Amino acid sequence: MKPAPVQSEPDLSGRPGPSAVPDLSDGSALARRAAELDAADELAPLRELFTVAPGTVYLDGNSLGALPRHVPARMQEVITHEWGALGIRSWEESGWWTAPERIGDRIAPLVGAAPGTVVVGDSTSVNVFKALVAAVRTAGDDRDEILVDAETFPTDGYIAASAARMTGRRIVPYAPGDPIGPRTAAVLVNHVDYRTGRLHDLPAVTAAVHAAGAVVVWDLCHSAGALPVGLAAHGVDFAVGCTYKYLNGGPGSPAFLYVRPDLQASFDSPLPGWTSHVDPFGMEPGYTPADGAPRGRVGTPDILSMLALESALDVWEGVSVEAVRAKSLVLTDFFLECVSLGSVTPAAPELRGSQVSLRCENAGAVMKELIARGVVGDFRPPDILRFGFTPLYVGFGDALRAARVLGEVLA
Ligand SMILES: Cc1ncc(COP(=O)(O)O)c(C=O)c1O
Repeated sequence: MKPAPVQSEPDLSGRPGPSAVPDLSDGSALARRAAELDAADELAPLRELFTVAPGTVYLDGNSLGALPRHVPARMQEVITHEWGALGIRSWEESGWWTAPERIGDRIAPLVGAAPGTVVVGDSTSVNVFKALVAAVRTAGDDRDEILVDAETFPTDGYIAASAARMTGRRIVPYAPGDPIGPRTAAVLVNHVDYRTGRLHDLPAVTAAVHAAGAVVVWDLCHSAGALPVGLAAHGVDFAVGCTYKYLNGGPGSPAFLYVRPDLQASFDSPLPGWTSHVDPFGMEPGYTPADGAPRGRVGTPDILSMLALESALDVWEGVSVEAVRAKSLVLTDFFLECVSLGSVTPAAPELRGSQVSLRCENAGAVMKELIARGVVGDFRPPDILRFGFTPLYVGFGDALRAARVLGEVLA
């Protein structure tokens, strides 16, 4: 189903504006290829479901996903009717109370998880804390090391360091593929490296962690909604991820936490807030955890962000993450073919997420100029230009336009 556009919405159709980007109708081989690939792209119609400012090639969905067109109307309803008219009745009548698990069940198939194993809430940072401390507690007292992805997004490292201090463990830097010894309690790894776009081998690393008797926590921020993850198929213990990148949930939309079904009963959260209590409204002084996914909750759910995310997930109706991955690989291949800068993102498809990172002198200034010319990516110090490819709303013409504008800026 195609959600209806919002009334009196400005024209944010995503169609390129008149002069912001180069004309691609120049008959060049790359322009012909882009047109052919766009014409054959089964996901191309989905672009109409999103708002992208006119004249913009939006390649920053690996940081903040684009707004699905129908979300503002839904939020208007949530605010005026559910909050305004129904008020507190909405916790029950509008399904607010159960939203963390209901939305978790919408995300579960996108990461290969069973219903009832994913809960939505809090930030990724907070969920890293919950998952990592629970992982260490699961591993037992005789293991005194926490291995952390040496290239991790900083927040995971900061949180892990604090978790280590609190649990009396020490941090050991880890590169996927390194040997894992008998002292390892838990291993925290990013599925896709935020800087280079490198995809790590989740099945192999998970198997190696388990062979060493340790527990794995995956950070899926850059893979959820971008590629198949297979949490259940690969026996992952714990996983966390954000929803504002490839799941388009909106700025600061709540993150998710996955706990493997057979670990749910022993999941020992370091943040046992009242909404994870078996009887939250019993107001008992003592804590008894709920069963299942609700045990991963902490406090009152952030309903407005959560319901924006739920609405945004409608764009996945009838869309498989496998199809998204297939297009992402062709798209990023094509972009790599169109650009002249050196890529730090591996060329091999099994090592590539859904972004392309290019090394570039004065990368900060170059990205500023790209954005001024309508190509929105981002910059990571000291010298990386990042371009995220969200197949739901990015096409091959966009990839070529971005490459050409980059060429002009560099020239
Ligand atoms: C890999 C990774 N982990 C964690 C985070 C931070 O998540 P949050 O701000 O939701 O805590 C990010 C943010 O971009 C990220 O890329």
